[in-house]
Amino acid sequence: MPGPAARSAQDPERHGHELVVVANRLPVGSRTLPDGATEWVTSPGGLVTAMESVMRTVDSGAWVGWAGSPGEAPEPFEADGMSLYPVHLEQEDVERYYEGFSNASLWPLYHDVIVDPEFHRTWWDSYVTANRRFARAAASAAGTGGTVWVHDYQLQLVPRMIRDERTDVRIGFFNHIPFPSVELFSQLPKRNQILRGLLGADLVGFQRETDSQNFVAAVRKLLGYHVDGQTISVPGLGTAPVREVVAQTFPISIDSAAVSTLTEDPDVRERAEQLRRDLGYPQKVVLGVDRLDYTKGIRHRLKAWGELLGDGSIDPHDTVMIQVATPSRERVEAYRQLRDEVELIVGRINGDHSSIGRPAISYQHRSFDRRDMTALFMAADVVLVTALRDGMNLVAKEYVASRPDLQGVLVLSEFAGAADELRAAVMVNPHDIDELKSAILRSLAMPPEEQEEAMRSLRHQVMENDVQAWAHDFLQRLEQSGHPLGESKPPVRLTGDEATAPETVDATLRDFAQTPRILIASDFDGVLAPIVADRDAVEPDPQALATLRELSQMHGVAVALVSGRALGDLDSHTQMPSSVVLVGSHGAEVGALPPWMQAEVVDSASLSMSPEKEELLDSITDTLRRIARAHPGVEVERKPSAAVLHTRNARGRGSINATESALEYAVTLPDVTVTPGKEVVEFSVVHTSKGVAIETLARASAADAWLYLGDDVTDESVFGRSGEHDVGIKVGEGDTAAGYRIADTDEVGALLSRLSELRRED
Ligand code: ADP
Ligand code: F6P
Repeated sequence: MPGPAARSAQDPERHGHELVVVANRLPVGSRTLPDGATEWVTSPGGLVTAMESVMRTVDSGAWVGWAGSPGEAPEPFEADGMSLYPVHLEQEDVERYYEGFSNASLWPLYHDVIVDPEFHRTWWDSYVTANRRFARAAASAAGTGGTVWVHDYQLQLVPRMIRDERTDVRIGFFNHIPFPSVELFSQLPKRNQILRGLLGADLVGFQRETDSQNFVAAVRKLLGYHVDGQTISVPGLGTAPVREVVAQTFPISIDSAAVSTLTEDPDVRERAEQLRRDLGYPQKVVLGVDRLDYTKGIRHRLKAWGELLGDGSIDPHDTVMIQVATPSRERVEAYRQLRDEVELIVGRINGDHSSIGRPAISYQHRSFDRRDMTALFMAADVVLVTALRDGMNLVAKEYVASRPDLQGVLVLSEFAGAADELRAAVMVNPHDIDELKSAILRSLAMPPEEQEEAMRSLRHQVMENDVQAWAHDFLQRLEQSGHPLGESKPPVRLTGDEATAPETVDATLRDFAQTPRILIASDFDGVLAPIVADRDAVEPDPQALATLRELSQMHGVAVALVSGRALGDLDSHTQMPSSVVLVGSHGAEVGALPPWMQAEVVDSASLSMSPEKEELLDSITDTLRRIARAHPGVEVERKPSAAVLHTRNARGRGSINATESALEYAVTLPDVTVTPGKEVVEFSVVHTSKGVAIETLARASAADAWLYLGDDVTDESVFGRSGEHDVGIKVGEGDTAAGYRIADTDEVGALLSRLSELRRED
């Protein structure tokens, strides 16, 4: 990105920006050269990599941040169609706010105290002052009704400071690094001020589910605020009303298409070739790319590498390691020590194992441009990401995006956020040096077909979930803030009753079966079993159930049954093994998960009952029972988080009249989700739906796509959420947001068998 252009940024007083990004660093930093001239360079780190590509697609966006050198800040300027507003930091601010409280207190604490955090009151004072400076600059850059997006741990007080000045703007906050457990967070002096600062935002985003959960737990425990699932009620001061703040997970990504396209550039290909040539054409190249930070596990990696060379498992004549270690925070003591140690170890290993002209480890302590970085990834047979703790780790995703040839192996620490999505990587616990050594050897020996299978799955994740989609999801959710999570009416894709042509269904199933990781889910009544008057006499199709059991045993396949029935009821009628996930009460009850699914994803999405909700549910049940008594044949079912009026056995107009009375009553209950279905009306005191459940299970199983079979109006919440690769199949007649239709329950068994057959073939 170029430096300041002659034209200055627009006057914020008259034309504020619609979107203002606030981050500690601007995307470019100034550096004074020995001759006194100023050079502009891209700022280090994942935040800039991600946000720079997002801002390129925004019209008239602004970025508020520090230009990287202490003292007078440059005037606002424009670069790449974006207005940059430099914030000035004096040398003392750099020492106390940036190196001190941000990087010697918060950074180690938030990364599970890999090194001991230090706390000093002068650092905190400076953190407050610096945050105020960023907040003021952002508040004056934002247009009326605009959006301000604050980034990362250096600026946690900024959301509240902006809100105090500007009540008209929407404020989002995204934390790029982990958020610690409440036990660790509680050690932080000024912890409550930090939480209050963050709660100035409308939406607080995190990388992993555990981060969101930790934040919500800290708010509940330390501030005592009421929390309902992801929604936190922040009491107003004096007569000010309660505000709702949402804490949600948005795993960040990269500009995947741009990286992948770079690999086709002849110049980049030549650089990759040149690299191997320069290294003397080794059989294998192993690569590590990290900021020189103690969270990245560089010492653990070098220890494993040194031992493999030492015991002869790796021959340095055949295999070379490149370690790129980007200079970072060099004035902070722990970073100085790390650099000394890493360079000592590299020196020792090279002294013991290099031959003249061929280093055992090629160590690069400098920055590379994007093209060279891509060339490095293209030349690497194995990339080692061994972080001891990392918010996401974009290097892992960049490697995957750089391998359209489907070759190469990613070794990935389970402590990096990327591990939640990149399931096909070779996972390691980097603390276990023996495990790390055998993972490296396994990766070096992995046959090309196995590499291809894993890389195909990894690429699916990275190419589909790019940084543009991440920013879009975050900003869209921010836009909806203040409104409950949208269950807006899904679009109608099919009308009438005509079934989809069998060839079309078959072709779709074929594509779906070839997707690396899939979730197959189905509604129960009306899909796996015909609807019957007596709910207890339901008879599911044994062939369909058997096929679902079989599918649940296959590699990369998750299977779920989702029903409006209570979980226990669903369980007793289906008798599924533990590999099939059961979801009852329209998503409000989730059964046991197989061990490979991420339970924390489900934990944070499912909405628990509180004593107030129990009370509300009691009173709803009483009222519905009164309605039932007035209409013979009508029954009331009480579920753990809902009450349901069943009218299918009512006599005469009883069904219509009872439904009308129930819906009239529903209008008086603002906090209750009322779902009318086929001769049922369900009153749920937790705000969930089958759609939310499927989305959550897809994330928990890291599925690349899902297939869902449903017949009822409640299944539309699933169909309405289908993405490009998801398959929604409506069973029976009626307008639907599903993309495909089959005639009735008789066809379900055959469809599932075909899917199972195609998956087995693949
Ligand atoms: P962090 O944000 O902690 O630095 P990430 O892995 O998420 O870690 O992001 C690092 C980013 O910096 C990636 O985009 C990576 O390609 C880039 N990067 C790392 N080292 C260098 C280097 N020496 N030269 C240029 N870019 C680098
Ligand atoms: O998210 C990781 C991060 O701390 C970002 O805030 C920053 O972009 C990057 O690492 C580099 O750190 P620094 O700005 O301290 O050089």
